[in-house]
Amino acid sequence: MDRLPLSRSGRTALEVASQAAEEAGNLLIERAHEERELRYKEGRANIVTDVDVLVENRIIALLQSEYPDYNVLSEESAAITNDSAYTWVIDPLDGTNNYVHGIPFYSVAIALTNSYEVLLGLTYDPWRKELFVAQKGAGVWLNGQPISVSERTSMEGSFIGCDMGYDAEAGATILEGFRNSWPQMCGIRIMGSAVLGLAYVACGRLDLYMHPYLYPWDVASGILLVKEAGGKVTDWEGEPASIYGRQILAGNETVHHQFMNLMKAQFQLGLKWA
Ligand code: IPD
Ligand code: CA
Ligand code: CA
Repeated sequence: MDRLPLSRSGRTALEVASQAAEEAGNLLIERAHEERELRYKEGRANIVTDVDVLVENRIIALLQSEYPDYNVLSEESAAITNDSAYTWVIDPLDGTNNYVHGIPFYSVAIALTNSYEVLLGLTYDPWRKELFVAQKGAGVWLNGQPISVSERTSMEGSFIGCDMGYDAEAGATILEGFRNSWPQMCGIRIMGSAVLGLAYVACGRLDLYMHPYLYPWDVASGILLVKEAGGKVTDWEGEPASIYGRQILAGNETVHHQFMNLMKAQFQLGLKWA
């Protein structure tokens, strides 16, 4: 395991990031029922609220006070570039659509990366008070207890999570892919939070999660969670996932393999895959 530098006040990166994630989650809940400003971003249904921005500012302020030299890549603001190998990658509110519809299923994601490599990943679900943490080479925990991906050995009985994202064509690929294949699974869930979808794979609640179009802040924490939990995370061609890639397919290794074959067969029938 790589030892991460301590913060300015002598705390570990995990302690600082945990505090940031939990405070952010509390703020999300505090504001959940208040009126909020809403703005549309690029892509259909891609929204941001004043709460996303407020929470993001709070997280960045804390991380910067403890690690003033690190870079920051966060969804709603311009990247902060310093002379450091380390970058905080932040999604202050993953599941903004769920948030504005009053559906209590969203999360905060904070990861620490060194170039393409994720060293520390945190995903926090404020309603269930569930903190998922992974440290590269050291393991993965949910509220302090070790977790692992599911042990399912076949597609039959599998529980699959997905989201369509904001690109209409890419999203349609998912729906088409499931049209004929879903009877071979136990269930499909459209999560509304890619970050939680990946965390649920890491703890075995889902056997697999897939998405056609994501950004670094959506996946940085989850990629490490799933890897440390013994799972496989790739793009749709089976290449190792990168935080800068777009597609994601994450699951326990067996189901991941079987699912790829199943979907390829679907798409050989004329649908576009990968
Ligand atoms: C979104 C959620 C959603 C996924 C989108 C993401 P946001 O994040 O994870 O489930 O389908 O592609 O952008 O915008 O709520 O942070
Ligand atoms: Ca997101
Ligand atoms: Ca977000």
